[in-house]
Amino acid sequence: MPAALRLPGRLTAPGPGWTTRADVVIVGSGIAGLTAALRLRAHVDKVLVVTKDVLNAGSTQWAQGGIAAALGPEDTPEQHEVDTLVAGAGACDADAVRVLVNEGPEAVRELIALGTNFDHTDDGELSLTREGGHHRDRIAHAGGDATGAEIQRALIAAVEAAPDIEVIQHALAVDLLLGEDDEGRTSVAGLTLHVIGEGERDGVGAVHCRAVVLASGGLGQVFTQTTNPVVSTGDGMALALRAGATLRDLEFVQFHPTVMYLGPDSRGQQPLISEAVRGEGAFLVDGPPEDGGTRFMQGVHELADLAPRDVVAKAIMKRMLETGRPHMWLDARHLGREFWERRFPTILATARSHGIDPVTQLIPVAPACHYASGGVRTDLYGRTDVPGLYATGEVACSGVHGANRLASNSLLEGLVFSRRIADVLPAELPAWREPSPDRRTAGLVGGEVRRELQETMSSRVGVLRTAAGLAEACAVLDKLAGHGAEAVDQASWETTNLLTISAALADAAALREETRGSHWREDFPERDDAQWAGHFDATMDDGVTAVSFVPAPATDGGLR
Ligand code: SIN
Repeated sequence: MPAALRLPGRLTAPGPGWTTRADVVIVGSGIAGLTAALRLRAHVDKVLVVTKDVLNAGSTQWAQGGIAAALGPEDTPEQHEVDTLVAGAGACDADAVRVLVNEGPEAVRELIALGTNFDHTDDGELSLTREGGHHRDRIAHAGGDATGAEIQRALIAAVEAAPDIEVIQHALAVDLLLGEDDEGRTSVAGLTLHVIGEGERDGVGAVHCRAVVLASGGLGQVFTQTTNPVVSTGDGMALALRAGATLRDLEFVQFHPTVMYLGPDSRGQQPLISEAVRGEGAFLVDGPPEDGGTRFMQGVHELADLAPRDVVAKAIMKRMLETGRPHMWLDARHLGREFWERRFPTILATARSHGIDPVTQLIPVAPACHYASGGVRTDLYGRTDVPGLYATGEVACSGVHGANRLASNSLLEGLVFSRRIADVLPAELPAWREPSPDRRTAGLVGGEVRRELQETMSSRVGVLRTAAGLAEACAVLDKLAGHGAEAVDQASWETTNLLTISAALADAAALREETRGSHWREDFPERDDAQWAGHFDATMDDGVTAVSFVPAPATDGGLR
């Protein structure tokens, strides 16, 4: 059992210098946050969106491949359901998956009605492609490989046309303000924010509200290399944990197999080479074919290069270890210049900016952290364990992804579950609560430990995990928790959040002694349903996190 380390039960912060009010505060401005805002505004007096940077700085903007939904003539929600359950490796919530696949097509049509310009075929039909783990063409895309950017554009345009939605940018959510509901349960009374340079609302402030919808994205910056933008520091998950919510399935971090390799010293956000490139015919090789390099995915899985991404990431890592090379290669030269320019203009430009021309050269690729399949545990309407707190999108664990998210199900999850939150929240909006006096706790961690934290997580809690490596990681994290911050600032708040999430993630990874989905234990190479069908839940009490196992039947019928 990993030793529990003590972390702040609330982040150290100055008292609020300003206050405001809103019925519902939405934290985050990607597809999940803005969908919730747009659907709630007609039913709630005042909706406030707060976002850590500018409106389009989150992960949605970076999504390349697309959004999955059974929209094609040959496809059905049932087929989408099977592919989702198989990718999830027995750890999905079957009801949540049914909600996702059944409500997905209508939700995407609504996104189109809102003004999102998806790509179409020459016949005017929606253009659908395939990615890893999908047995049908069901990925709608926009601008070739700029799907997230187009969705983000359409949503921001809609929000800007809705003057009743207030937006505060450059606002880090620090902690929830909590009160008591009529039954004496701890419930949401507001939120403290730190705002950089918004006139009178500058510095730490308090927003009094009746409900908070967390749509704040993932935790990619826990690792040294990630496809996530710099804002993805797990703030929403850490804030929810401190407030009494449960975090579920944190060990299931998805490593995208084909992230462009920029050298051993490259840090932070790395360029994604979408799975859609393989969907259009690119393949992985362990060296230039003209020099004897081979296609190593054939024989590994019936879908070969389009196997679920955990299978591909593991196969790449294995080949890297066998050959001693720091990366493998993607061969997409045969797609040709015209196809590259039309279908993948963003990836083409990015690769060229790093000195690789995919039209004539192999692309060096290696796995990097891409997506948190776990997060704040919710029910089918985004409700968390804390009355008045809802979660949607990557910050949440609705149960649709299980141990490994199916490609392009993430934008869909944010869309579908934000609609569901908006369906129920107006009718169950809690009464206004008076915030309880703030409990100040010490223990903020200095921003200077971030690099050691990330390197430890990448080397010990990354794609390959062992008991020994995980124990070392827990020991380093314990040491870092003692590194008190000299300044109370954004760097120390973010680093404390990263450490809070890393500790729970490493604990869950140490306890899950099996290999399942994106959790690969070298010392326990098999999936073990007899012992480990279920979830690891993390809760925090007075700054100490406990991780415990909750059994649940495997949901894929052993299909994998
Ligand atoms: C990709 O385009 O490969 C990423 C899609 C996803 O993460 O769902």
